[in-house]
Amino acid sequence: MKSLKERILELKKEKNAVILAHYYQESDIQDVADYVGDSLGLSQEAMKVDADIILFAGVHFMAETAKILNPSKKVILPDLKAGCSLAESCPADLFQKFTEAHPDHVVISYVNCSAEVKALTDIVVTSSNAVKIVESIPKDKPIIFAPDKNLGKYVMEQTGRDMLLWDGACVVHEAFSLDKLIALYKKNPDAKIIAHPESETHILNTAAYIGSTSGMINFVKTDPSQKFIVATEAGILHKMKQEVPDKILIPAPAKEDNTCACSECGYMKMNTLQKVYDCLLNETPEIHVPEAIMKKALIPIQRMLELSK
Ligand code: 13P
Ligand code: SF4
Repeated sequence: MKSLKERILELKKEKNAVILAHYYQESDIQDVADYVGDSLGLSQEAMKVDADIILFAGVHFMAETAKILNPSKKVILPDLKAGCSLAESCPADLFQKFTEAHPDHVVISYVNCSAEVKALTDIVVTSSNAVKIVESIPKDKPIIFAPDKNLGKYVMEQTGRDMLLWDGACVVHEAFSLDKLIALYKKNPDAKIIAHPESETHILNTAAYIGSTSGMINFVKTDPSQKFIVATEAGILHKMKQEVPDKILIPAPAKEDNTCACSECGYMKMNTLQKVYDCLLNETPEIHVPEAIMKKALIPIQRMLELSK
């Protein structure tokens, strides 16, 4: 009998579909994907897709972004409930009031937000280009940065710009324990700590490198160190191990009350290999974005892609 992975690969051909997966997806899903990447890479890839169907193995805002960038394609997501604490922290109606209260501000939104919030935004950013894009805004222009306050604080520190921050956070990156991280580092003083900028400032202050998921993978490949403590969602270790099989990679520890010892994104993990198969077979759940929102949200995403060249 054929394995689930084999059946997915067959269905993909039959249906002229591609699978785009984020690094936080479970290993089996990453293995059947045509492209695995960070949020920026996934957007760039989604735009180029020529196949009829994009199965997005990631969370809802990522699939929505793919639909906005390539609207003639059928975009499907294995589990519609795969959301994101950052996107949920920023309802469009409240965000609209916030932006209207500060009409002179340039509105910059992290890609981890709904299409409706993107439609209220001037420029979208991801963790790999946020610093560069904020630096491109004239110094006399005040900025709203939403929804991630931790990424916002990091960008403020890197650019020296003051920004008005929305009060959102990633539950996964706020789950790291500083005390446990320090204890782990004391046992492994030859390790380099690397962290995602969605982490809190006290975690970032310990890091030798801070960057997006792609940036972190690139760092472990190019840095001469043999050991790394990795402060981001644990799914990234699958790709990292493939890239640097001889190096030692230790997931950063989570606080006592976390559901697992390291940090896993419950939303990302809602997608399973079985759901990927069912989703391809039935071509559902499908992502739909209202036409008017799609048109407005495309503009700040395109600005980001232009500024990322
Ligand atoms: P990147 O892969 O763009 O670094 O984003 C991380 C993340 O949390 C996605 O939800
Ligand atoms: Fe959202 Fe955090 Fe999960 Fe990424 S890791 S999808 S930011 S909750």
